[in-house]
Amino acid sequence: MKFIVDQQVEDIEMPENLKLNTFLQEFHSNCPHPQCSFGFYGFAFGQSPFPVPKTIQDALIKNVDKGAYAAVQGIPELRDAISKYNKYYFAMDIDPKRIYVGPGTKELIFNLLEVLHGTVILPTPAWLGYLPQIRFLKKNYHMLPTRANRKISPNDLRKLALRLQDRQKILILNNPHNPTGLLYDRLELEEIADVCREQNITVISDEIYAQTTYDFSKFVSMGKIYPEGTFVTNGLSKSHAAGGYRLGYVIFPQHAVDLKTQFKKILATEYTAVSTPIQHAAVAGFEISKEMDEYFEVTRNVHHIMGEYTHHALSSIEGIKTTKPDATFYLLADFNSFATDLQKAKINTSQKLSESLIIHPYHTAIVGGDSLVLERNDFSARIAYVDYNGSQVYQNYLNNKPKSSHERLEFVKNNAPKVVAGIEMIAKFFEHLRKDTLFDLQIQKKSRITPN
Ligand SMILES: Cc1ncc(COP(=O)(O)O)c(C=O)c1O
Repeated sequence: MKFIVDQQVEDIEMPENLKLNTFLQEFHSNCPHPQCSFGFYGFAFGQSPFPVPKTIQDALIKNVDKGAYAAVQGIPELRDAISKYNKYYFAMDIDPKRIYVGPGTKELIFNLLEVLHGTVILPTPAWLGYLPQIRFLKKNYHMLPTRANRKISPNDLRKLALRLQDRQKILILNNPHNPTGLLYDRLELEEIADVCREQNITVISDEIYAQTTYDFSKFVSMGKIYPEGTFVTNGLSKSHAAGGYRLGYVIFPQHAVDLKTQFKKILATEYTAVSTPIQHAAVAGFEISKEMDEYFEVTRNVHHIMGEYTHHALSSIEGIKTTKPDATFYLLADFNSFATDLQKAKINTSQKLSESLIIHPYHTAIVGGDSLVLERNDFSARIAYVDYNGSQVYQNYLNNKPKSSHERLEFVKNNAPKVVAGIEMIAKFFEHLRKDTLFDLQIQKKSRITPN
């Protein structure tokens, strides 16, 4: 039987995360070289490598019998725990009535875009998740390219907002930022908030990486700076390494009374409520405890060590520039100084660059610029420095915390050999490119392994 797909779905592009999975799988099944069985240096997937905290796992086991549907907005114990978590870590006083729980922040951001009228302003580069949602909802949108410092310029934001006709505009702010790893400080947020007040811009502040801020005292939520106009989203996925649990929350702005009923309608229509056992497990993750405090400290310190190394190692390669991450487990690497050589080698787009890096002999997976909402010929890429065994590294860190810069370097070499080797592979790729031996090598190997 042939099924006819709805035009609305036909019209949307494959989201980048799916494309990436398909691409890597295809690469695996098609690569005949014995070395391909080893896999690849994984700088592509944005997933925390650490185990789900034990306290969350235990709470999930204890609550497996909770078979009843939960309240649409989330169970009261969880909203209460999230409120206290925000007070303790982010110094925010949030009435639990302002909190809505959903199956991941991705879904909640989608729900917010459904409920809020207005043109979306998307600063670029951006996380690969937003654009397919905006397009799916057929919303008007405008990109806001950032400048050399890779942060939103308040002046550019004002200029763009002045050109837009809509009474309401929606800015997607992602802080700390995927893919650059950068953090907005209080002053930068205040300047953006001033423009938002002046131009009637609502902010969706995606703060899913807040807890990973290396110098945690520096993180400030936009919900504190612009409480009347900001929806803050956060969840379990990154800070608690539990993306698969699918649990996020949104904090509504102060006094958004009318909107709450409309929002609840959407949640009730689309998914009724988040799985009840998962909500109970999440309570343990948001409750203030010594275990969770230690978990956040260890994981953010390890991300910091890995980030420092990756930044230093990549930017020491001639021609490569990278952002210096303040948070997350990503940085943005800029390979544009190789543009002429890349074009000579018929690598004309960032997608082609990702493909050339994944095939033999380089085996290195990165996320290319067009997946980050950059121009197709912008040779920038996101590098996720998480290719190591999180459980083991967590324990090793606790057993022997590296202090000096020498010890930090040794820590990376001993605990994340694939990160070290993957960066060496990137260096090798660009060295071959410069020497014009890149394609020779790939063609030679290809003909050697697939003779006909
Ligand atoms: C910036 C950003 N926002 C949101 C998400 C999705 O989070 P969740 O798992 O809560 O849907 C991700 C996941 O990669 C992300 O990087």
